[in-house]
Amino acid sequence: HDHLLGIEPLAPADIATLLDLADQYAALNRREVKHTDALTGLTQINMFFENSTRTQASFELAGKRLGADVMNMAMQASSIKKGETLIDTATTLNAMHPDLLVVRHPQSGAVDLLAQKVNCAVLNAGDGRHEHPTQALLDALTIRRAKGRLHRLSVAICGDIAHSRVARSNIILLGKMENRIRLIGPPTLMPARIDEFGVEVFDDMEEGLKGVDVVMMLRLQRERMDGGFIPSEREYYHRFGLDAEKLVHAAPDAIVMHPGPMNRGVEIDGELADDVARSVIREQVEMGVAVRMAAMDLLARRLRVRRAEQSDKGV
Ligand code: CP
Repeated sequence: HDHLLGIEPLAPADIATLLDLADQYAALNRREVKHTDALTGLTQINMFFENSTRTQASFELAGKRLGADVMNMAMQASSIKKGETLIDTATTLNAMHPDLLVVRHPQSGAVDLLAQKVNCAVLNAGDGRHEHPTQALLDALTIRRAKGRLHRLSVAICGDIAHSRVARSNIILLGKMENRIRLIGPPTLMPARIDEFGVEVFDDMEEGLKGVDVVMMLRLQRERMDGGFIPSEREYYHRFGLDAEKLVHAAPDAIVMHPGPMNRGVEIDGELADDVARSVIREQVEMGVAVRMAAMDLLARRLRVRRAEQSDKGV
């Protein structure tokens, strides 16, 4: 694979290879000296057209720990503000010979389009409500480390599924690894063609959480609700917010996840989110750096092979 645009094109073996390498980087990240030279001499540009804390910071740290020259484009201060298009911006930066482009964009499909216009490896850091592949991979690594496996688990994904690229990438990944997926949320926040996903759908937390091994909460994504249904926070928390009382219905050793940023008291109880006996939210953030290191390392290896082939052919 030349890019990481989504989970869709990955085979289970690709996912396992990436997670195995990420496990090694997770061990490295716990050491005092965290540097390697996997990306030495390569240039990484991060372009975030939408706000981010975790993804932006972890891609930057991942690149630096792998020895790349990392540049963060301040998109708010860029010539996009003067009317330059996404593609013109991308081809302009491409002329500076980057090797890796990390892109987050509010429109679904924008990162795929951009990948067709540049000759470096592109990583999707989240595009609209389409995919957020590195999030699903870091969630998978967190689950595998907590549960000892990534197959035949029962996973509940709860809340605003309709607007969530995190849910979409996770449904695809967890489905490929043969897990049972339950979606829980108000019918108004479920995607239109939900039957295509091969999942079970619930609008009641008690029923949906019964016996599950993993409870994955999602943020209410008001920025993508464009005037449609916006539930009242109190009512939403009462019915769909995760607290200790609702968690009783899951398996006794079920783990609690949230991709962040989280709204305490809206989709999750603050105390439960901080309870390290149940919540792996901090581990998810930690694994984010390791997974992004693995993804960029593997893409850089591919890039080097491709360039060697081209140089042999005299291209
Ligand atoms: N989970 C996630 O993508 O968080 P950020 O929006 O802060 O990057």
